[in-house]
Amino acid sequence: MRRDLHEQNRLSWNEATRAHNSHKRDQAKFLREGGSTLGPEELSLLGDISGKTLLHLQCNAGQDTLSLAQLGARVTGVDISDEAIAFATQLSTDSGLPGTFVRSDVYDYLEETPAGSFDLAFCSYGALLWLSNIELWGRGVAKVLRSGGRFVVIDAHPFMMMLGENLELKYQYGGGELVTEPGVNDYVAAAGEALTPSGWEEGVQNFVNPHPDSSFQWSLSDILNALLTPGLTVQKFVEYPYSVWKAFPMQERRPDNRFYLPKDMPQIPHMFGLVMSKP
Ligand SMILES: C[S@@+](CC[C@H](N)C(=O)[O-])C[C@H]1O[C@@H](n2cnc3c(N)ncnc32)[C@H](O)[C@@H]1O
Repeated sequence: MRRDLHEQNRLSWNEATRAHNSHKRDQAKFLREGGSTLGPEELSLLGDISGKTLLHLQCNAGQDTLSLAQLGARVTGVDISDEAIAFATQLSTDSGLPGTFVRSDVYDYLEETPAGSFDLAFCSYGALLWLSNIELWGRGVAKVLRSGGRFVVIDAHPFMMMLGENLELKYQYGGGELVTEPGVNDYVAAAGEALTPSGWEEGVQNFVNPHPDSSFQWSLSDILNALLTPGLTVQKFVEYPYSVWKAFPMQERRPDNRFYLPKDMPQIPHMFGLVMSKP
Protein backbone atom coordinates (compact mmCIF):
# COMPACT_ATOMS: atom_id res chain seq x y z
CA MET A 1 0.00 0.00 0.00
CA ARG A 2 1.05 3.59 -0.59
CA ARG A 3 1.19 5.10 2.90
CA ASP A 4 3.00 8.18 1.50
CA LEU A 5 0.05 8.91 -0.77
CA HIS A 6 -2.47 8.22 2.00
CA GLU A 7 -0.74 10.93 4.05
CA GLN A 8 -0.90 13.36 1.12
CA ASN A 9 -4.62 12.56 0.82
CA ARG A 10 -5.06 13.26 4.55
CA LEU A 11 -3.89 16.85 4.00
CA SER A 12 -6.11 17.26 0.96
CA TRP A 13 -9.15 15.89 2.84
CA ASN A 14 -8.50 18.16 5.83
CA GLU A 15 -8.86 21.21 3.57
CA ALA A 16 -11.81 19.85 1.57
CA THR A 17 -13.74 18.79 4.68
CA ARG A 18 -13.57 22.36 6.06
CA ALA A 19 -14.93 23.72 2.77
CA HIS A 20 -17.68 21.05 2.58
CA ASN A 21 -18.90 21.70 6.13
CA SER A 22 -18.94 25.46 5.53
CA HIS A 23 -21.96 24.91 3.22
CA LYS A 24 -24.00 22.84 5.72
CA ARG A 25 -26.28 24.70 8.11
CA ASP A 26 -26.53 23.71 11.82
CA GLN A 27 -25.94 19.98 11.42
CA ALA A 28 -26.23 19.19 15.16
CA LYS A 29 -29.73 20.71 15.29
CA PHE A 30 -30.71 18.80 12.16
CA LEU A 31 -29.63 15.48 13.75
CA ARG A 32 -31.14 16.37 17.16
CA GLU A 33 -34.48 16.91 15.47
CA GLY A 34 -34.29 13.42 13.95
CA GLY A 35 -32.79 14.39 10.57
CA SER A 36 -30.82 11.87 8.53
CA THR A 37 -28.21 12.26 5.81
CA LEU A 38 -28.77 8.69 4.56
CA GLY A 39 -30.47 8.01 1.23
CA PRO A 40 -33.01 5.33 0.37
CA GLU A 41 -30.33 3.44 -1.59
CA GLU A 42 -28.02 2.70 1.37
CA LEU A 43 -30.94 2.27 3.76
CA SER A 44 -32.35 -0.46 1.53
CA LEU A 45 -28.95 -2.21 1.27
CA LEU A 46 -28.32 -1.99 5.03
CA GLY A 47 -31.72 -3.31 6.17
CA ASP A 48 -32.43 -3.39 9.90
CA ILE A 49 -29.36 -2.17 11.81
CA SER A 50 -30.92 -1.63 15.22
CA GLY A 51 -28.73 -2.94 18.06
CA LYS A 52 -25.94 -3.92 15.64
CA THR A 53 -22.27 -3.03 16.08
CA LEU A 54 -21.45 -1.10 12.93
CA LEU A 55 -18.07 -0.03 11.58
CA HIS A 56 -18.27 2.94 9.20
CA LEU A 57 -15.09 2.95 7.13
CA GLN A 58 -13.91 6.33 5.79
CA CYS A 59 -16.72 8.08 7.65
CA ASN A 60 -15.54 11.63 6.88
CA ALA A 61 -17.18 14.17 9.26
CA GLY A 62 -19.60 11.65 10.78
CA GLN A 63 -22.96 12.84 9.46
CA ASP A 64 -23.85 9.44 7.97
CA THR A 65 -22.32 7.61 10.95
CA LEU A 66 -24.53 9.53 13.40
CA SER A 67 -27.55 9.03 11.14
CA LEU A 68 -26.82 5.29 11.46
CA ALA A 69 -26.66 5.74 15.26
CA GLN A 70 -30.06 7.44 15.02
CA LEU A 71 -31.38 4.11 13.65
CA GLY A 72 -30.14 2.25 16.72
CA ALA A 73 -26.73 0.96 15.57
CA ARG A 74 -23.73 1.14 17.90
CA VAL A 75 -21.39 2.98 15.58
CA THR A 76 -17.64 3.36 15.16
CA GLY A 77 -16.42 5.72 12.45
CA VAL A 78 -12.86 5.63 11.11
CA ASP A 79 -11.23 8.20 8.87
CA ILE A 80 -7.69 9.39 8.11
CA SER A 81 -8.61 13.10 8.16
CA ASP A 82 -7.93 14.99 11.42
CA GLU A 83 -10.45 17.66 10.47
CA ALA A 84 -13.16 15.08 9.69
CA ILE A 85 -12.72 13.15 12.94
CA ALA A 86 -12.55 16.32 15.07
CA PHE A 87 -15.77 17.53 13.44
CA ALA A 88 -17.48 14.14 13.86
CA THR A 89 -16.54 13.93 17.55
CA GLN A 90 -17.94 17.42 18.19
CA LEU A 91 -21.08 16.63 16.17
CA SER A 92 -21.67 13.54 18.30
CA THR A 93 -21.49 15.67 21.47
CA ASP A 94 -23.63 18.48 20.06
CA SER A 95 -26.28 16.19 18.60
CA GLY A 96 -26.41 13.87 21.62
CA LEU A 97 -26.02 10.86 19.31
CA PRO A 98 -23.43 8.37 20.60
CA GLY A 99 -20.56 7.32 18.36
CA THR A 100 -16.90 6.38 18.62
CA PHE A 101 -14.67 8.17 16.14
CA VAL A 102 -11.11 7.08 15.40
CA ARG A 103 -8.57 8.99 13.34
CA SER A 104 -6.60 6.34 11.55
CA ASP A 105 -5.52 5.10 8.18
CA VAL A 106 -8.14 2.45 7.37
CA TYR A 107 -5.37 -0.13 6.84
CA ASP A 108 -3.93 0.43 10.33
CA TYR A 109 -7.38 0.27 11.89
CA LEU A 110 -8.29 -3.00 10.16
CA GLU A 111 -4.95 -4.53 11.13
CA GLU A 112 -5.19 -3.51 14.79
CA THR A 113 -8.87 -4.45 15.30
CA PRO A 114 -9.55 -7.95 16.68
CA ALA A 115 -11.20 -10.45 14.34
CA GLY A 116 -14.99 -10.71 14.58
CA SER A 117 -15.49 -7.31 16.25
CA PHE A 118 -18.47 -6.06 14.17
CA ASP A 119 -21.90 -7.21 12.98
CA LEU A 120 -21.74 -4.81 10.05
CA ALA A 121 -19.14 -2.87 8.10
CA PHE A 122 -20.19 -0.09 5.75
CA CYS A 123 -18.62 2.45 3.40
CA SER A 124 -20.13 4.75 0.83
CA TYR A 125 -19.84 7.37 -1.91
CA GLY A 126 -16.22 8.10 -2.69
CA ALA A 127 -14.53 5.57 -0.40
CA LEU A 128 -13.04 2.86 -2.65
CA LEU A 129 -10.94 5.13 -4.88
CA TRP A 130 -8.67 6.05 -1.95
CA LEU A 131 -7.62 2.45 -1.30
CA SER A 132 -4.12 1.80 -2.62
CA ASN A 133 -4.25 -1.99 -2.06
CA ILE A 134 -7.71 -3.47 -2.60
CA GLU A 135 -6.75 -7.05 -1.63
CA LEU A 136 -5.27 -6.05 1.73
CA TRP A 137 -8.38 -3.95 2.41
CA GLY A 138 -10.72 -6.86 1.50
CA ARG A 139 -8.88 -9.20 3.89
CA GLY A 140 -9.17 -6.60 6.66
CA VAL A 141 -12.90 -6.04 6.10
CA ALA A 142 -13.58 -9.80 6.15
CA LYS A 143 -11.48 -10.21 9.30
CA VAL A 144 -13.26 -7.60 11.46
CA LEU A 145 -16.74 -9.05 10.70
CA ARG A 146 -18.18 -11.73 12.96
CA SER A 147 -19.51 -14.92 11.41
CA GLY A 148 -22.94 -14.02 9.99
CA GLY A 149 -21.91 -10.36 9.71
CA ARG A 150 -22.40 -8.26 6.60
CA PHE A 151 -20.42 -5.77 4.55
CA VAL A 152 -22.36 -3.08 2.65
CA VAL A 153 -20.86 -0.69 0.11
CA ILE A 154 -22.42 1.85 -2.23
CA ASP A 155 -20.00 3.81 -4.37
CA ALA A 156 -19.14 5.21 -7.81
CA HIS A 157 -19.47 2.61 -10.55
CA PRO A 158 -16.02 1.59 -11.93
CA PHE A 159 -17.35 2.16 -15.48
CA MET A 160 -18.17 5.78 -14.65
CA MET A 161 -14.72 6.16 -13.10
CA MET A 162 -13.17 5.74 -16.58
CA LEU A 163 -14.83 8.88 -17.94
CA GLY A 164 -13.62 12.48 -18.05
CA GLU A 165 -15.77 15.62 -17.75
CA ASN A 166 -17.12 15.28 -21.31
CA LEU A 167 -17.76 11.55 -20.95
CA GLU A 168 -14.58 10.81 -22.91
CA LEU A 169 -12.61 7.66 -22.05
CA LYS A 170 -9.90 9.14 -19.84
CA TYR A 171 -8.83 6.65 -17.17
CA GLN A 172 -7.86 2.96 -17.13
CA TYR A 173 -10.43 0.40 -16.05
CA GLY A 174 -9.20 -0.93 -12.71
CA GLY A 175 -5.89 -2.59 -11.93
CA GLY A 176 -5.08 -0.03 -9.23
CA GLU A 177 -3.98 2.57 -11.81
CA LEU A 178 -2.80 5.72 -9.99
CA VAL A 179 -4.66 8.98 -10.74
CA THR A 180 -3.14 12.22 -9.44
CA GLU A 181 -5.40 15.29 -9.27
CA PRO A 182 -4.90 18.88 -8.05
CA GLY A 183 -6.77 18.14 -4.80
CA VAL A 184 -10.16 17.05 -3.42
CA ASN A 185 -12.59 19.63 -4.73
CA ASP A 186 -15.63 21.33 -3.22
CA TYR A 187 -18.19 18.90 -4.64
CA VAL A 188 -20.66 20.01 -1.97
CA ALA A 189 -20.72 23.50 -3.49
CA ALA A 190 -21.08 21.94 -6.99
CA ALA A 191 -24.07 19.82 -5.90
CA GLY A 192 -25.81 22.77 -4.22
CA GLU A 193 -28.69 21.77 -1.93
CA ALA A 194 -28.56 18.11 -3.02
CA LEU A 195 -25.80 17.37 -0.48
CA THR A 196 -26.94 19.71 2.31
CA PRO A 197 -30.10 18.26 3.89
CA SER A 198 -29.60 20.43 7.00
CA GLY A 199 -29.82 23.57 4.82
CA TRP A 200 -27.54 25.44 2.45
CA GLU A 201 -24.97 28.13 3.38
CA GLU A 202 -22.83 30.09 0.93
CA GLY A 203 -19.74 29.20 2.97
CA VAL A 204 -16.30 29.05 1.39
CA GLN A 205 -16.24 30.55 -2.12
CA ASN A 206 -14.05 29.44 -5.05
CA PHE A 207 -12.27 26.80 -3.01
CA VAL A 208 -8.84 25.78 -4.27
CA ASN A 209 -7.22 22.85 -2.47
CA PRO A 210 -3.50 23.48 -1.83
CA HIS A 211 -2.82 19.73 -1.48
CA PRO A 212 -2.97 17.31 -4.45
CA ASP A 213 -4.67 13.95 -4.09
CA SER A 214 -3.92 10.47 -5.36
CA SER A 215 -6.56 7.88 -6.05
CA PHE A 216 -6.69 4.39 -7.54
CA GLN A 217 -8.83 2.79 -10.25
CA TRP A 218 -10.54 -0.45 -9.21
CA SER A 219 -12.70 -2.57 -11.53
CA LEU A 220 -15.80 -4.47 -10.42
CA SER A 221 -13.82 -7.71 -10.47
CA ASP A 222 -10.98 -6.12 -8.45
CA ILE A 223 -13.51 -5.13 -5.78
CA LEU A 224 -15.49 -8.38 -5.84
CA ASN A 225 -12.43 -10.62 -5.78
CA ALA A 226 -10.89 -8.64 -2.90
CA LEU A 227 -13.96 -9.57 -0.84
CA LEU A 228 -14.67 -13.05 -2.26
CA THR A 229 -11.11 -14.34 -1.76
CA PRO A 230 -11.17 -13.99 2.05
CA GLY A 231 -14.49 -15.85 2.09
CA LEU A 232 -17.35 -13.32 1.91
CA THR A 233 -20.34 -14.26 -0.26
CA VAL A 234 -22.50 -11.98 -2.43
CA GLN A 235 -26.02 -11.31 -1.16
CA LYS A 236 -27.05 -8.44 -3.40
CA PHE A 237 -25.66 -6.36 -6.28
CA VAL A 238 -27.36 -3.24 -7.67
CA GLU A 239 -26.46 -0.69 -10.40
CA TYR A 240 -27.91 2.81 -10.42
CA PRO A 241 -28.34 5.05 -13.53
CA TYR A 242 -27.69 8.23 -11.53
CA SER A 243 -25.33 9.66 -8.92
CA VAL A 244 -26.09 11.42 -5.65
CA TRP A 245 -23.39 14.00 -6.45
CA LYS A 246 -22.82 15.99 -9.65
CA ALA A 247 -20.26 13.87 -11.49
CA PHE A 248 -20.47 15.49 -14.96
CA PRO A 249 -21.37 19.07 -16.01
CA MET A 250 -24.15 17.90 -18.37
CA GLN A 251 -26.00 15.95 -15.68
CA GLU A 252 -29.51 17.16 -14.79
CA ARG A 253 -30.76 17.18 -11.23
CA ARG A 254 -34.23 15.61 -11.14
CA PRO A 255 -36.89 16.08 -8.43
CA ASP A 256 -35.56 12.98 -6.59
CA ASN A 257 -32.37 15.01 -5.92
CA ARG A 258 -30.34 12.61 -8.08
CA PHE A 259 -28.09 13.56 -11.03
CA TYR A 260 -28.83 11.89 -14.42
CA LEU A 261 -27.43 12.23 -17.93
CA PRO A 262 -29.87 14.07 -20.24
CA LYS A 263 -32.79 11.83 -21.31
CA ASP A 264 -31.78 11.83 -25.01
CA MET A 265 -28.37 10.24 -24.23
CA PRO A 266 -27.66 6.53 -23.62
CA GLN A 267 -27.81 5.99 -19.89
CA ILE A 268 -24.79 4.55 -18.07
CA PRO A 269 -24.32 3.04 -14.60
CA HIS A 270 -23.20 5.77 -12.17
CA MET A 271 -23.11 3.89 -8.86
CA PHE A 272 -23.23 0.32 -7.63
CA GLY A 273 -24.34 -1.24 -4.36
CA LEU A 274 -23.09 -4.51 -2.92
CA VAL A 275 -24.05 -6.56 0.13
CA MET A 276 -21.78 -9.42 1.18
CA SER A 277 -21.95 -11.71 4.16
CA LYS A 278 -19.46 -13.71 6.17
CA PRO A 279 -20.42 -17.40 6.49
C1 LIG B 1 -15.86 10.96 0.00
S1 LIG B 1 -15.40 10.76 1.66
C2 LIG B 1 -16.55 9.55 2.22
C3 LIG B 1 -17.77 10.22 2.70
C4 LIG B 1 -18.68 9.30 3.45
N1 LIG B 1 -19.51 8.58 2.53
C5 LIG B 1 -19.56 10.02 4.48
O1 LIG B 1 -20.21 9.32 5.23
O2 LIG B 1 -19.58 11.23 4.54
C6 LIG B 1 -13.90 9.85 1.58
C7 LIG B 1 -13.21 9.76 2.93
O3 LIG B 1 -12.15 8.81 2.84
C8 LIG B 1 -11.16 9.22 3.75
N2 LIG B 1 -9.91 8.50 3.47
C9 LIG B 1 -9.14 8.59 2.35
N3 LIG B 1 -8.09 7.75 2.44
C10 LIG B 1 -8.20 7.12 3.64
C11 LIG B 1 -7.41 6.14 4.31
N4 LIG B 1 -6.29 5.65 3.78
N5 LIG B 1 -7.82 5.72 5.54
C12 LIG B 1 -8.94 6.23 6.12
N6 LIG B 1 -9.71 7.17 5.53
C13 LIG B 1 -9.36 7.60 4.29
C14 LIG B 1 -11.08 10.72 3.55
O4 LIG B 1 -10.46 11.39 4.63
C15 LIG B 1 -12.57 11.07 3.38
O5 LIG B 1 -13.13 11.50 4.59
